[in-house]
Amino acid sequence: MVVSVVAKLFSLSISWWLLCYPWTNVRGEYFSSVEQMRQLLKLEQGLIDNLDRYIKLHEQKIEFLHRQREWFGKELKEGLKQDVEYTSNPMSAFLLVNRLVNDWERIRVFMELDVGVKLQNNTEMPTSEDVVGVAEGLARLQDMYQLNTKDMASGKLLGRKIGRQLKTAECYEIGNKLTTATNYRYAVSWLREALRLWTSESPGISKVEIMNSLSYALSQQGEYEEALELTKKVLKMQPDNQRALKSKEPLEKWIVYKQEYGLPPPVPDADYKNYPSLCRGDYQRSNKEIAKLRCRYEHKRTMFLRIAPLKMEELSHDPFIVVYHEVLHDKEIAMVLDIAKPLLQRSMVGDDVSKKISKTRTSNNGWLDDVMHPIVRRITRRTEDMTDLAMSAAEQLQVGNYGVGGHYLPHHDYAVPEEGKEAYPAVGKGNRIATVMYYLSDVAIGGATVFPELGVSVFPRKGSAIFWYNLHANGTIDSRTLHGACPVFVGSKWVANKWIHEYGQEFRRPCQVDQNA
Ligand SMILES: *[C@@H]1O[C@H](CO)[C@@H](O)[C@H](O)[C@H]1NC(C)=O
Ligand SMILES: *[C@@H]1O[C@H](CO)[C@@H](O)[C@H](O)[C@H]1NC(C)=O
Repeated sequence: MVVSVVAKLFSLSISWWLLCYPWTNVRGEYFSSVEQMRQLLKLEQGLIDNLDRYIKLHEQKIEFLHRQREWFGKELKEGLKQDVEYTSNPMSAFLLVNRLVNDWERIRVFMELDVGVKLQNNTEMPTSEDVVGVAEGLARLQDMYQLNTKDMASGKLLGRKIGRQLKTAECYEIGNKLTTATNYRYAVSWLREALRLWTSESPGISKVEIMNSLSYALSQQGEYEEALELTKKVLKMQPDNQRALKSKEPLEKWIVYKQEYGLPPPVPDADYKNYPSLCRGDYQRSNKEIAKLRCRYEHKRTMFLRIAPLKMEELSHDPFIVVYHEVLHDKEIAMVLDIAKPLLQRSMVGDDVSKKISKTRTSNNGWLDDVMHPIVRRITRRTEDMTDLAMSAAEQLQVGNYGVGGHYLPHHDYAVPEEGKEAYPAVGKGNRIATVMYYLSDVAIGGATVFPELGVSVFPRKGSAIFWYNLHANGTIDSRTLHGACPVFVGSKWVANKWIHEYGQEFRRPCQVDQNA
């Protein structure tokens, strides 16, 4: 259902969508977890509360100062009425000096007195790097689902209004953050939008600033001619604009260079084949391939399945990939999430070494051990029943949460150790022979698990699980198991992974469904 919606709306193909993520590999970020974004709402609620207290205390302070001012005013008026008498009268002379020395001093101290409420706990505030993360997430969604910047800026997604119109300064901010992230293609797009929206009433941002930023982003894209045009326009408006003055000459040189030698070839795309179209749900395998696949009740392979057969949907025979439907109940899922949520807490970014910390903050998952709760043990046992593989060689259950824009680019679950070295030495049980991924939530749109080499995409269904072997039956790696998690478009995606290693599976692993049989 969702698949077809996405497919219909985003049926165009993109070939260069990866161009903008040269260094991206795994980027699950602050922004990428709905759970963590919810923490930010709580944080903002705290800020509002503190601001309220601050305002209230200040109002009391101001009220007191008003009363004091009245009194001082009255005294002064008295004095000014007959100034000579007033100052020559020893009583009033004393009062005047006393007022200035003591009363006014009290007021001075009072005025400087801190009301004792601070706005924020610095350690909990997101940093400007988080804003970059959000902007990158937006660009990622635009790329994958082919969203037009103008629509997004107007708060429209899928033809529906889901937010307000962004302000000029907000579009400018997104564009600038994307420039910081070296995603110039989308930086250009957002800066153009900012320029389009700009009016002389746009607060906090000048047209010249936008034009300079756009010129820079364009030049990084090799669009020197347009960049120079903008720079010239800026200089017409502000002949002494330093930024424009500095960039004019280099741009002119680059244009000459480009005419003579052309542009360097673009960074080649990482080739994930059908990844974008699989994510959008508009890639279909051939009918011949699909015809071989079955849905059935699996009741033969293990004792457990004989008693409680599972709905199994085959996705691929070689490599073996299946989905089990309705393997976890809503109540069980709720319990798992309760246990996992506190473990997902992002390690908050501090202000001093924010850069260092932000690199490690990409993790938004938590590990659940069997000893933590009976439900974790129960899931381990169910995984064993489902797969007939020994759980003595399984890792802890990893629970992860992806928010809007959250994704995991195609990767393999197995390790390729150096010659003579062991895979996963910390686990010490061989390579990851198989993966079981439970979906702990539905996802409104996006968030599919896709296998680009195989043309397989699975859209999350709460309570289902995908199971596949990462290794061939002879123990060598099966590179066709390359898989990724598509960006979540709308919704919050929860998954739980169970990785099973080789040791102890010698007599367990069944023959492949048909191949090599
Ligand atoms: C600020 O942080 C401290 C400890 O880190 C905490 O006890 C306190 O409640 C926090 N204050 C607010 C307003 O969040
Ligand atoms: C292991 O099995 C795969 C698939 O059947 C085959 O392609 C590969 O050559 C085998 N490798 C070895 C070392 O036997």
